[in-house]
Amino acid sequence: MGRGAPHPKMKAGRDVAHIILRDLDIPDIWKFDVYVENGGYEGLKKAVTLTPDEVIEVVKASGLRGRGGAGFPTGVKWSFIPKDAETTYVAVNADESEPGTFKDRQIMEGNPHQLIEGALICAYAIRARAVYIYCRGEFWDLTHALDARIEEARAAGFIGENILGSGWSCEVYTHLGAGAYICGEESALLNSLQGLLGQPRVRPPFPAQKGGGLYYEPTVVNNVETLTNVPWIMVNGADAYRQFGTEQSPGVKVFCVSGHVNRPGNYELPLGTTFRELIYEHAGGILDDKGLKGVLTAGASAPILPGSAEVLDTPLTYEDVQKVGSSLGSASVIVLDEDTDMVWAALKMVRFFKHESCGKCTPCREGTFWMERVLSRIHRGEATEGDIDLLDEVAAQIKGKCLCALGEFALNPAAATIAHFRDDYARRVSGVPESTAELETQAPIEAPVAAGD
Ligand SMILES: Cc1cc2nc3c(=O)[nH]c(=O)nc-3n(C[C@H](O)[C@H](O)[C@H](O)COP(=O)(O)O)c2cc1C
Ligand code: SF4
Repeated sequence: MGRGAPHPKMKAGRDVAHIILRDLDIPDIWKFDVYVENGGYEGLKKAVTLTPDEVIEVVKASGLRGRGGAGFPTGVKWSFIPKDAETTYVAVNADESEPGTFKDRQIMEGNPHQLIEGALICAYAIRARAVYIYCRGEFWDLTHALDARIEEARAAGFIGENILGSGWSCEVYTHLGAGAYICGEESALLNSLQGLLGQPRVRPPFPAQKGGGLYYEPTVVNNVETLTNVPWIMVNGADAYRQFGTEQSPGVKVFCVSGHVNRPGNYELPLGTTFRELIYEHAGGILDDKGLKGVLTAGASAPILPGSAEVLDTPLTYEDVQKVGSSLGSASVIVLDEDTDMVWAALKMVRFFKHESCGKCTPCREGTFWMERVLSRIHRGEATEGDIDLLDEVAAQIKGKCLCALGEFALNPAAATIAHFRDDYARRVSGVPESTAELETQAPIEAPVAAGD
């Protein structure tokens, strides 16, 4: 079946809408020939019949928003690249390091040409001479497989000189990171690609501007899932994409569901699906029919939401999740049942951020250290009521004072669990540490003695 024809799974409706993971049921779709037989590279072929600006207009009209976290409109981002720039680049963010996020990996393993095609369409739209796919260090085998797929596309004339006779030439390279969460942040990613220390840059200039991008040239940084939507949009048009989702959050999204659910996994659904539908209909409900205590919407980085009826009935869109006090982010939905100790959960997350803080700015570097220290004291049952307020205060001190969003992410586990689950903290300070077994097995946290501890 050609890509121009509607895919059997491509029904207009809330239940089934597969654009990103649509062909994974086709045996060997990862192979170049099979991909092409099933309509692969038709989007690129169509794109080069248009001008680069016309391609940008199609993506703008689709309303596609970035799937890496911030939800920035993709076509608008592409339009920021100066038209007179001589050298431009595309950097594909395949760092996928957010806890509970595992969608980009499935896309790249299952249907890698769909990403390569999407990245090439982006490159054509901004007249880029090279695409760099930045993969997290643990994606070692996946990245080598991707190299082989890139060679297949090159052999067919989709990569290299004068692509499809358009006069535009472009190379595609992969690059392996070294396992740092911060290298998923776009400016740290660019530094890392350049062989510099993987730390965020001061902005402006932003990546799309001269001085802010890769090798200081204007660059589009897009997430894997974002670009994987683009071939379908090119073939089927912006209006077809907009039949899914909401006005402000059009299209489909891959929701990564993990935690206390019966069927964890990736679920591609229209934006606007509610938490209730995602957790109970698609992910099979909570393990052992327990109640829902809380839900993380964007891995560890967004504020946890309580498992209330209001939250369960909230549509998963950028605008609606924000209204209930969190953000959709990469839509890595971690479900926590009624027995979860939120002090334990907060400590685990804060410990992650302390470890991953790059140390460039003081509020994040020192704040994550102090939050972990106070939280572990509370968790051990050695704290007072005042320590809960101290923890809240340290989190508040970090807010708005950091160079990159990791600092903001890091304060959320403490601040949001105190806001929604203060009783869990109160139980700890009254000296009844009902520690989770996993945490008990960890070595005690050795902290240097400091004044005021
Ligand atoms: C600490 C941190 C880690 C991030 N990690 C990732 C990541 O692993 N993958 C990703 O696509 N975006 C990540 N982002 C978001 C990127 O900075 C950037 O917004 C994104 O790649 C833009 O692509 P998009 O517009 O397609 O979403 C991270 C941001 C921060 C602050
Ligand atoms: S907020 Fe944290 S991770 Fe971001 S630059 Fe500052 S120290 Fe580094």
